[in-house]
Amino acid sequence: MDNPDRTAQFLAMMEERRRDLRTRFTQILPTGKPFVWEIGCGHGHFLTAYAQAHPDETCIGVDLVSERIERANKKRDRAKLANLHFLHAEARLFLEMLPTEARFSRLFILFPDPWPKLRHHKHRIMQPDFLSDAAKRAGEGGRLYFRTDFTPYFDDTRLVFIEHPVWSLDATAGETWPFEQETVFQSRAESYHSLIAAVRTDKKAAAT
Ligand SMILES: C[S@@+](CC[C@H](N)C(=O)[O-])C[C@H]1O[C@@H](n2cnc3c(N)ncnc32)[C@H](O)[C@@H]1O
Repeated sequence: MDNPDRTAQFLAMMEERRRDLRTRFTQILPTGKPFVWEIGCGHGHFLTAYAQAHPDETCIGVDLVSERIERANKKRDRAKLANLHFLHAEARLFLEMLPTEARFSRLFILFPDPWPKLRHHKHRIMQPDFLSDAAKRAGEGGRLYFRTDFTPYFDDTRLVFIEHPVWSLDATAGETWPFEQETVFQSRAESYHSLIAAVRTDKKAAAT
């Protein structure tokens, strides 16, 4: 049976995180423009370089680990980038709390935790339900960029997209990766695979 004190503590912590996200969104989300989102930004190598190269785009990186976000924020401050924000947040909670009108133009998911064991696959971020929720927040022409060095995760993810009613890989055939900056995990990888997905225009209405 659950410990009532610990349950109450957990609920209070989640409420505080929701409140913090609500406040941060009012401070950082652009009005009438989509934002660029990175899930699992780690120390922020990719998004800092991306934001530097795209000063007109608002970039938001999220990561579960607060120490990584602290380091990412130091990088942002050193680079003096007003269009870049790093938040200590879980991706699903971020989506849940995002104001209804907010949209992303690009979502980067680079070298996410692969959870190689079958019984742990449920922890992977690239799941049909998560992708359905994310699709609702993709703006016009929105793209999802996924990269991993773990081939089985890449193959599984490709299949998830192929079978997904809203996302399409065909729509992005011939598109190239929009911006290169080596991440920490990329620098350790011998090789990796990338894919680009778009929300199917015929299904966009159904996704919103
Ligand atoms: C394998 S690391 C990759 C970090 C970075 N993208 C890179 O390529 O070096 C995965 C990162 O995703 C973060 N992460 C895992 N699940 C997450 C989630 N549900 N929401 C936000 N961040 C998550 C982890 O804390 C970790 O920093």
